[in-house]
Amino acid sequence: MKKYLLVILTCFVVNTASAQDFPNKSYQSNYETIMNRTEWWRQARFGMFIHFGAYAVPASGEWFKSNKKLTTEEYQKYIDDFNPDLFDARKWAKLAKEAGMKYAVLTAKHHDGYCLFDSKLTDYKISTYMPERDLVREYLEAFRAEGLKVGLYYSVIDWHHKDYPNVGNHPQREDEGYGKQKFDWDNYLKYMHGQVEELVTNYGNIDIMWFDYSFGEYKGEKWKSRELIEMVRKHQPDIILNNRLVGDGGSSIFDAEYPLGDFNTPEQQIPEAPIKDQYGNLIPWETCLTLNNSWGYKATDSDWKSPQLVIHTLVNCVSKGGNLLLNVGPNAKGVIPEPSVKILQEVGKWMSKNGESIYACGIPELPKTDWGRYTQNGNKLYAHWMYPHLGGINIKGYAEKTKQVILLHDGSEAHTFTSWWGNQNKDNFFINVKAYPHFAYQLPDDIDTVFRLELKNVESDQ
Ligand code: GLC
Repeated sequence: MKKYLLVILTCFVVNTASAQDFPNKSYQSNYETIMNRTEWWRQARFGMFIHFGAYAVPASGEWFKSNKKLTTEEYQKYIDDFNPDLFDARKWAKLAKEAGMKYAVLTAKHHDGYCLFDSKLTDYKISTYMPERDLVREYLEAFRAEGLKVGLYYSVIDWHHKDYPNVGNHPQREDEGYGKQKFDWDNYLKYMHGQVEELVTNYGNIDIMWFDYSFGEYKGEKWKSRELIEMVRKHQPDIILNNRLVGDGGSSIFDAEYPLGDFNTPEQQIPEAPIKDQYGNLIPWETCLTLNNSWGYKATDSDWKSPQLVIHTLVNCVSKGGNLLLNVGPNAKGVIPEPSVKILQEVGKWMSKNGESIYACGIPELPKTDWGRYTQNGNKLYAHWMYPHLGGINIKGYAEKTKQVILLHDGSEAHTFTSWWGNQNKDNFFINVKAYPHFAYQLPDDIDTVFRLELKNVESDQ
């Protein structure tokens, strides 16, 4: 009888929850479509962002033309000098793979309008200067060959096209004469949509399209976004899109009559908690992050993040159900700066031992702790011991539920113990890599020592 009551009660809870979660049918269908489409991507968790373009020549970041308010004529010398003779996409792809990344996103065109692909709609492209070369194609082939998923960044902002007005941070924003010209917006949209169509039709399967970015009234239908996306999805039904055709508007991506993106894009920041919409549903998200403080190559920027900070950031993102898209800015020769290579290789070493606590993992059932984070994949709960902590880490209330604890570093069984102190709740237990009284304070992995807690599957194991 008791059991019967419980079943009724559970059904009630589940039903009311879903009624609240899905305010209407179109929301529910958007939700299901987006969750299915992004499934591989949410499992991948870690990707490489690549900002590469002629701005690597002045070596002051990709906003150089805007920051210096250069005219297209003044900027031309950098286009002329951009000759990435050491560009070898296979090296980039191998590095991404070695770092444990599962996908990548390359700037096919950034705000300066210069194209790394052989667009038929402009001469403002690499193949005008390096005949026979299409860097986008080379990138796609090299990354696919390493088994990575491929994405393209495309700037809807264009500081070069004659019909793109001097709005926002356009280099000629203060040039009144420039502003008085006639701008044929529809002609620009035709060009922009045309280029995106080239990208999604001439290069095989594209896994991700990363649009950048909306501001002020330049968002949503100003870009004719719905038409743009319908065209993209016609050619590539499974492609994943970010949300920057609309900006980070706050409202739910599932709510829209026609969703203009599949995931949120916090920039240089990690949300405090999983990102949820107003109905309490989780929204897929990806933090994009620079390795120093610049996206495009900046010769003087040596403010590199440590491998430790990168790994902690990745774990932090995963523990909140998010991805990390970590940027490299190759120099004008096409080479990824040595400090970036070193950091990524270190990250790769950690990932090769601990990757299972990242891929396909997400929000854990336990809250974050003062010694680190948890991540979880089904009945595998991963305890990330990231910060110095004496005496072992305390897994509260999990002694009963835990079958076994494995140290990922070497696959050995970890030392678990209960303690007369702090163990008022007899279901608490502690983990260290050595047994009492010789607790290890130097952990085998000083960046993040990970334990896999294999939890009892309540239904089958009890
Ligand atoms: C910003 C910047 C851009 C960079 C991007 C990465 O939108 O304008 O330069 O590519 O962020 O998220």
